[in-house]
Amino acid sequence: MKRVITYGTFDLLHEGHYRLLERAKELGDYLIVGVTSENYDKARGKLNVIDSLATRIENVRKTGFADEIIVEESPGQKVQDVKKYRVDIFTVGSDWVGAFDYMKDYCDVVYLERTKNISSTMLRVQNKRIQRVGIIGTGRIAERFIPEAKLVSGINTQVVYNPHKESAERFAQKWEIDACDTLEIFYEAVDAVYIATPHETHYDYIKASLEHGKHVLCEKPMVLKKAQAEELFRYARTHELILFEGIKTAYCPGFNKLLGVACSGTIGAIRNVEACFTKLENPANRELTDPLYGGSLTELGSYVMLPILKLLGEDYEDIRFDVIRGENGLDLFTKISVRYPKGIGTATCGLGVKSEGRLLVAGTKGYLIAEAPWWKTSYFEVHYENPLEVEKYSERFLGDGLRYEISDFLSMINGRKSSEFKLTRSESVVLADMMERFLQAENR
Ligand code: CTP
Repeated sequence: MKRVITYGTFDLLHEGHYRLLERAKELGDYLIVGVTSENYDKARGKLNVIDSLATRIENVRKTGFADEIIVEESPGQKVQDVKKYRVDIFTVGSDWVGAFDYMKDYCDVVYLERTKNISSTMLRVQNKRIQRVGIIGTGRIAERFIPEAKLVSGINTQVVYNPHKESAERFAQKWEIDACDTLEIFYEAVDAVYIATPHETHYDYIKASLEHGKHVLCEKPMVLKKAQAEELFRYARTHELILFEGIKTAYCPGFNKLLGVACSGTIGAIRNVEACFTKLENPANRELTDPLYGGSLTELGSYVMLPILKLLGEDYEDIRFDVIRGENGLDLFTKISVRYPKGIGTATCGLGVKSEGRLLVAGTKGYLIAEAPWWKTSYFEVHYENPLEVEKYSERFLGDGLRYEISDFLSMINGRKSSEFKLTRSESVVLADMMERFLQAENR
């Protein structure tokens, strides 16, 4: 019996896929089809896939050509599969000619002529799911958004708004988009808004954007008061709009892998999470001079609290802040101690004190450790009582990482809620509550 294998994403299954599978089946007696997992697609930078893995598998099954369907999870899997399934022929479309010649050491390789004038990419464009995005704010983070958004198909950055007209115009010119003089004109030009302005302005901009019927992706910290977060999420939900807090770590594939391993029982029950993120800022920068909203906690607190909330939950018993202040009274270094019935969380952030930035998750059987920059997770280790027993995990982290967050935001807009768990509304509310408690304790 001749066994054939082929791989693909098979998104929005089309005639090209059908014809490829038909001919692949004709090459032998038994056809195995590898369908890429969502994580694998993300990790290799394919961020525009519309159908879920389950739908893509079901569509391949319905063609009737596959005798067996497997999931492709990682780049090194193909050779392993060929050996495991005793494959005689590996085949893919002619767009891949040469790319899989290395497989000739293990089986025959056949490149089948690609069907002309059809691809998932073309269908995505025809579906007109292009979301027009406008940016409010022209600072450093806004600068990073545009090149990253270009990598996510289905989204197009159209315009920018900044009450300071000159800044908006400079930004627009640099990125070849339009600058809007008024918010009214701005809202007419967009379907969704990315807010990258100083923290304290987020609430008003989010509110106005939602009231104009726009989806919102807002930089962290989304808001600085619990009641504001609750109100905005309530409004978004009743008006069927997406409101999304942009903590990019939450959407990073490596961080999600880390959470999966930590929760899998490998290290036992989780008892302690320690997260530290410090970044020495120029003392003249807004982060260290804004008397009301500056400081280390408002700037970095969302990152360090994220793994604690994700791994120990939202129902803490007590939260305490210890602060080292600069001469102007702002927190240069903050330690947040969070007590749970069965665990402890310690989050540390600093703008004026440098420390070892690491994430440590301690459990009853072992611990997990990710070094800085763990907030862009690409590598972590699991250790046990025996110091020689170490498991190593890695995951790709591409570019600035904002692309993962933008891609999840777009998925949510398009009605695919599968990424909602990565940062839930209630977690965002807890983060706003934490910011509020801190600012109150600091008499700000
Ligand atoms: N394929 C084909 N003819 C097409 C499109 C795809 O023969 N017109 C083949 C590819 O060469 C590959 C398989 O179908 O062997 C799965 O391809 P996939 O990447 O899922 O499809 P595309 O339509 O190329 O997807 P995209 O536009 O997202 O790259």
